[in-house]
Amino acid sequence: MNCDFLARWYRWLEYAAFGGALRRRREAFLFELGNPQKVLVLGDGDGRFLQLFTALYPEARVDAVDSSEKMIELARARAPRVTFHLADAREFAFEEQYDLAVAHFFFDCFETEELTPLLGRVRTQKWLVSEFRNTRWSRPSVRGLYFFFRLTTGLRVTMLPDHRAVLEKLAFRMEKEEKELKGMVASELWIRS
Ligand SMILES: C[S@@+](CC[C@H](N)C(=O)[O-])C[C@H]1O[C@@H](n2cnc3c(N)ncnc32)[C@H](O)[C@@H]1O
Repeated sequence: MNCDFLARWYRWLEYAAFGGALRRRREAFLFELGNPQKVLVLGDGDGRFLQLFTALYPEARVDAVDSSEKMIELARARAPRVTFHLADAREFAFEEQYDLAVAHFFFDCFETEELTPLLGRVRTQKWLVSEFRNTRWSRPSVRGLYFFFRLTTGLRVTMLPDHRAVLEKLAFRMEKEEKELKGMVASELWIRS
């Protein structure tokens, strides 16, 4: 998947398709994270979440990993304090122990079989996640989204992975959950049991 072509338009496409719903999902639980000192953000895209997070948590040291150069360029302008890593998260060596790891609309770029080893390598106490969900009525829209991303970024995945099963296997328990758009998008806060 290469998001370079989409980067500048990503924000506007998101607003056109979902209004403020994805933004609200990313911002859910932002005031319920305790006092994270070491934070990892995977695939934040154009940096809107990082901008807000670093303003709210000025003490936190934040690593962000993204495979799109253009996305990182936009994110760096919004959140200059963050340490950015231009890398494929599947190959990145996560050396730190994190208080919090964040993945907003990122797990959907992978198959469950790819997520299992990736998440297994991230050492963190908490996961803050936003993601699409399949419901009876959301299924066609999710399929449409995958088709759009296949055309514009070359994404090869065609269905949502079961990230909740992966996190449960890694001994995380979902502490908070909030849904929107009739369950099509959800925010989740996971704590290591
Ligand atoms: C669908 S966008 C989500 C962006 C943002 N987090 C949001 O909430 O809208 C996925 C992001 O993950 C990045 N990404 C996709 N596959 C990746 C990979 N294998 N390693 C690192 N970043 C990746 C893309 O470049 C993009 O910035």
